[in-house]
Amino acid sequence: MLVAFQWSAAIKIVSGPYLQNLTDTSCDILWRTDLPSTAWVELAPDDGSHFYQQERPATYATDLGRAVVGTMHKVSLKGLKPGTSYRYRIYSEEVLRQQPYHVDYGGIAASEVYRAEPLMFTTLSPDKEAIDFFVINDIHGRNEVLTNMLSGVKKGATDFVFYNGDMVNYMDSVESIFSGFIDTSVKRFASEIPFMMSRGNHETRGAAAKDYMRYFPTPTGKPYYSFRSGPCFFIVLDGGEDKPDSSIEYSRTSFFDDYRREEAQWLEETLASKECREAPFRIVMMHVPFTGGGWHGPLHAKSLFQPLLNKAGIDLMLCGHMHAYSYHEKGEEGSDFPVLVNSHNGYLRVKADTGSISLFVMNPKGKTIREFRYDRSAR
Ligand SMILES: [Fe+2]
Repeated sequence: MLVAFQWSAAIKIVSGPYLQNLTDTSCDILWRTDLPSTAWVELAPDDGSHFYQQERPATYATDLGRAVVGTMHKVSLKGLKPGTSYRYRIYSEEVLRQQPYHVDYGGIAASEVYRAEPLMFTTLSPDKEAIDFFVINDIHGRNEVLTNMLSGVKKGATDFVFYNGDMVNYMDSVESIFSGFIDTSVKRFASEIPFMMSRGNHETRGAAAKDYMRYFPTPTGKPYYSFRSGPCFFIVLDGGEDKPDSSIEYSRTSFFDDYRREEAQWLEETLASKECREAPFRIVMMHVPFTGGGWHGPLHAKSLFQPLLNKAGIDLMLCGHMHAYSYHEKGEEGSDFPVLVNSHNGYLRVKADTGSISLFVMNPKGKTIREFRYDRSAR
């Protein structure tokens, strides 16, 4: 948990920091304060030196050439080395008044580096021989269930936690997003281990849904994106809403048919990339399964995405949405790869090395219920 230091009684860090948009060379660090402020991060190598040994380089939260002043902060660190650990410290300086040629500042809040160890993260690397990650979906704001599922997440052992959609019931407000699952994630791991998001249909609903990318930035700037970690290339898809766009529930705010068509173009380009083709394994993450429900959204996603995925040598697809476990062998329902639909009351543990993927279906207490193994040599 964050140990914060307040240079004045006024400003406080109220949520985070949490890591997003982690790649082999970059990382975004996000947090919230209770008062409007600027934001910056100091970065130090993981070399055993005290954080106070020397001045550490600072990176500010900026936009269009200006420091961003607000209560939601994002600092984008770039030019990092792959597979490398960095220590960091976050700062927010309260802005009392902005004038054209003068800014009045208040106090500073920062994470602790004296009474506690500095926070740390490690960039992804395609050269990492083995990875170990968790997959959790359909939490719908149930923090107690989430806390149980996260008990096995360990710094140094867990590469990331993948949230496969519907982590909240609705994106009603900033508070509902943070109290829904981010604050719990920060308490357990998210300041030092990233969570990757795939957007569920429930994350498309509510007044704050339009700001999704503000809280969950990705390399593409869209909810669909790809990344490489160890031997696996991950393709994260967004199935969008489940009902037809014209359904009365959406009040003329849904335009997901066009969105999915645009996404299919991106998917085609991504699957053709060298990075995708040359990875030992390709894993697809999508909240809604093609097989689920027979509703318009998943069927439309199936018609656009499945033919592309079938030509791309996909090893595994992981989904949620149905609130019930099911497993679909390669060849079922038109998918030329196995599909596991995870329940809302269990999680997945996935371990992959260059030779095989081991997939464990767990109950919330951490007991293995089922086990699958996919060998590269058996393809
Ligand atoms: Fe869902």
